[in-house]
Amino acid sequence: MGVSGTGKTTVAEHLVERLGWPFAEGDTFHPAANVAKMRDGIPLVDDDRWPWLQALADWIGAREAAGENAVVTCSALKRSYRDLLRTGHPSVWFAHVDTSPDVLRKRVTKRTGHYMPPSLLDSQLATLERLESDEPGVTITGEGDADDVAAQVLAALAAERRVG
Ligand SMILES: Nc1ncnc2c1ncn2[C@@H]1O[C@H](COP(=O)(O)OP(=O)(O)OP(=O)(O)O)[C@@H](O)[C@H]1O
Ligand SMILES: [Mg+2]
Repeated sequence: MGVSGTGKTTVAEHLVERLGWPFAEGDTFHPAANVAKMRDGIPLVDDDRWPWLQALADWIGAREAAGENAVVTCSALKRSYRDLLRTGHPSVWFAHVDTSPDVLRKRVTKRTGHYMPPSLLDSQLATLERLESDEPGVTITGEGDADDVAAQVLAALAAERRVG
C-alpha cells in the first residue's frame, strides 16, 4: 500500500521474484471508467473505488480458497478501503511503502508511460490514512534500495506470520 510513486509495483516485483507467489497489480482491477478519470486528472471518489476494491478482495478470496500465498499492490489509502480488503480474509497483511512528498514528486514527474499524472499526487497525500495499531502489517520507508525495502517487508512478514 501507499500513494502513487511510492514504489508499490517496484517492491512487489522484488517480492515476487524472491517468493514466486501469484501477483495481482491493483491498478489492473479498475473499471475502464476509473482509468479514464485518472487519465484526465480527475480524482476518484469513493463510489468509484468500491467496485475496484471488491474485485481485488474477490481475487484475494480466491487465493485463500486455493490455499495460496499472494502479493497484491493496492494504494489502499484509507482505513475503510483496507477494511474492505481484509474483511473475511484473514491472510491479508499490509506493507505500507512510505516515501516523502519531495522524493515522490521527483519520481512521478520523471516517470513516463503511466496513467497517473503528477497532479493527482497531492490529493493522494491528503487522502492517505496511515496504518493503525490494530491493523496487521508494517510501515517501511520506500527511499532505500528497492531490494532492501522488499527484504524489510519479508523480515516483518516472517516474524508476524511465519511465511515468506
Ligand atoms: N526504492 C526506490 N528507489 C528509487 N526509485 C524507486 C524506488 N522504488 C520505486 N522507484 C521508482 O519510482 C517510480 C515509481 O515507482 P512504482 O511505479 O513502483 O510506484 P507505485 O507505488 O507502484 O506507483 P503507482 O501507484 O502510480 O502505480 C518508478 O520510476 C520506480 O522505478
Ligand atoms: Mg504501481
